[in-house]
Amino acid sequence: MMSGEEMKALLLRRARMVEEFLPSCVGGDMPPRLRDSMLYSLQAGGKRLRPVLCLSCAALFGLAESVVLPFAAAIEMIHTYSLIHDDLPAMDDDDLRRGKPSNHKAFDEATAILAGDGLLTDAFGRMTAVDLPASRVLAAMGEMARAAGSTGMVGGQEWDMIYTGMPPVSLDELRRMHAMKTGALLRASCVCGALLAGAESIELQRISRYGAALGVAFQIADDILDVVSDTETLGKPAGSDAEHGKNTYPSLVGLDESRRLAQEQARHAQEAIASFHGPEAEFLRALALYTVTRVA
Ligand code: IPE
Ligand code: IPE
Ligand code: MG
Ligand code: MG
Ligand code: MG
Repeated sequence: MMSGEEMKALLLRRARMVEEFLPSCVGGDMPPRLRDSMLYSLQAGGKRLRPVLCLSCAALFGLAESVVLPFAAAIEMIHTYSLIHDDLPAMDDDDLRRGKPSNHKAFDEATAILAGDGLLTDAFGRMTAVDLPASRVLAAMGEMARAAGSTGMVGGQEWDMIYTGMPPVSLDELRRMHAMKTGALLRASCVCGALLAGAESIELQRISRYGAALGVAFQIADDILDVVSDTETLGKPAGSDAEHGKNTYPSLVGLDESRRLAQEQARHAQEAIASFHGPEAEFLRALALYTVTRVA
């Protein structure tokens, strides 16, 4: 079993690798204000968990980090776009993100919408630059498109908005919303890493189950942190969910049961990859635990 310290060191090393690569993902002839806005959110920090999962699932099947890096960075572009739009007044109306004013506060709403559009679209352009067989890249891009789009993250965000201000929804509805708005992108981050590395169907299925469970655990933990943590630690407004009448795990089943369910999902994630051995597999199992023990 990998220690927490070892896990954090590798997480940090891979996050830094992504961090250093990201500025090169925004370039070309565009209005300087749009470029500034895209870079502003992309370089504001963040855990970089999705690209790290992609790099790590590729490494599990022996593929070098440097080869997957453009794809992993593109996933972070998609994630960052989703945060910019999530904070808009029409959605969660949050003014702080990653410890800084939200994009629409630092710039304006139109620029924030367009910066999000730019990051999303350019991400798919970046993915085409991965130096691997076209069939693998195409499969990963298709996976990512489905995860980010209307049957994945975007659809989940719509359920989130529909449920906002509504009486408590059922646990099944909440589970579906979490699986779509957060689980889909985290799952696909893992699957794309494995796909790019040429993993086989049975291996892909295991990675998929790992990523899906980890993703739901991650969003339950996010809901819990919104209640129990503070704005400074989170870098985004604590208590935002209750203030906006969101349907969340804590609002529906309480904090204790939410913690239990998050841990259960993290365990499912670990079990899904129990047949994999070696340091990369241990890292992924430790990461699953980290998603529910993290403080921000
Ligand atoms: C926040 O994601 C949005 C959710 C899906 C819960 P993260 O908690 O990964 O945000 P950053 O990237 O670290 O800022
Ligand atoms: C957002 O969920 C999920 C996304 C797809 C962006 P939240 O609205 O709970 O994320 P935070 O708490 O604002 O980061
Ligand atoms: Mg939201
Ligand atoms: Mg939000
Ligand atoms: Mg939240």
